[in-house]
Amino acid sequence: MRQKKSIEDVEVSGKKILLRADFNVPLEEGRVRDDARIRAVLPTLENLLDRGAALVLASHLGRPKGRPDPGLKLDPVAERLAELLGRPVRKLDQVAGPGVAEAIGALQSGELLLLENLRFEKGEESNDREFARQLAEPVDLFVNDAFGTAHRAHASTAGVAEFVPAVAGLLMKKEIEELSRCLENPQRPLTAILGGAKVSDKITVIRRFLELADQLLVGGGMANTFLAARGFDLGDSLYEKDLLKEASSLIESAEKSGCRLVLPVDLVVTRALEPGGETKTLPPQEISGDWKAVDIGPETVKTFSRYLSQAAMIVWNGPLGVFEIPPFDEGTKLVARAMAASEAYSIVGGGDLVAALEGLGLAGAVGFISTGGGATLEFWEDKELPGIKVLQDKA
Ligand code: 3PG
Repeated sequence: MRQKKSIEDVEVSGKKILLRADFNVPLEEGRVRDDARIRAVLPTLENLLDRGAALVLASHLGRPKGRPDPGLKLDPVAERLAELLGRPVRKLDQVAGPGVAEAIGALQSGELLLLENLRFEKGEESNDREFARQLAEPVDLFVNDAFGTAHRAHASTAGVAEFVPAVAGLLMKKEIEELSRCLENPQRPLTAILGGAKVSDKITVIRRFLELADQLLVGGGMANTFLAARGFDLGDSLYEKDLLKEASSLIESAEKSGCRLVLPVDLVVTRALEPGGETKTLPPQEISGDWKAVDIGPETVKTFSRYLSQAAMIVWNGPLGVFEIPPFDEGTKLVARAMAASEAYSIVGGGDLVAALEGLGLAGAVGFISTGGGATLEFWEDKELPGIKVLQDKA
């Protein structure tokens, strides 16, 4: 990947900067429930403010589809950001227009303001050129620190760079560096863990890790599709029938590659997908009738843990069971503990897994936790993400 310019490579003093962040955070009763994505941007904000820049912050929240939605306003984000930064954060109720231009015009060095949710405007997701121009007009520089949204070609992530110089923020820079580590020159053995519901979401990344990794450990609903492709009945377990051929072809690719594809050897099954439902543990060949697989079993946890203890580098995306319904989160938690105990450098790609690690108090034991979900996967697929592509290359 080409090296991109960051805020460390440009003069920012006295400049007005449009800073795209990914403040797409979970809310609960009008407050931010998980502020990890806000905390992740603080080093960039502090760096720029200390160096005398004036910041216009912009983000999306949720998917309001081009219309204002009172439940998705960015006020709770402004409130949490002000607490974390220890500085006032002025929040505007518009994204663009005369009032916004005036507020940005009056902004002084060392001050910041936050625009309203970008996705209240139709032009954002359609990457409308005129909307991108409006965003860029009042500023001298565009800083993209929204790695989590870098896979979207929207006005505020890509279009805006046509009108104003564009560089990476410190979070974007770190994400690119850390997530590249397993693609370029990984430490070996490299063990990849992939979970989550569907093979269809991850075909390209599975292929990529079959080329790159020494072992690929698969859990979650996607393991069911591989096991079904191997000919197991699996009872009432969820799997993707239309993906069986693809899964067989991935198994064949694994046999030809130097990467060992490791599937569960036992699974926790239930008839009722609800907390406290009756469960038992079975090898895949014994699952039948109305039983469904909802988690990896203890033998699989042992096998996965053994690979993790021998790894030099671990990358992980996606939970290994129906994580949101305890006790079907047990396999994921035990494997998370094994990862934390391993001496390997570990990189975790976004989503539910991050909340799990934080809940277990293990986040500190992980080398790097990405703020991206879909963006992390696309990065690992080796796709050029639009929000990175538009940034200026280093000379
Ligand atoms: C995310 O949460 O993955 C990013 O903020 C992107 O959100 P989106 O999937 O709604 O584009």
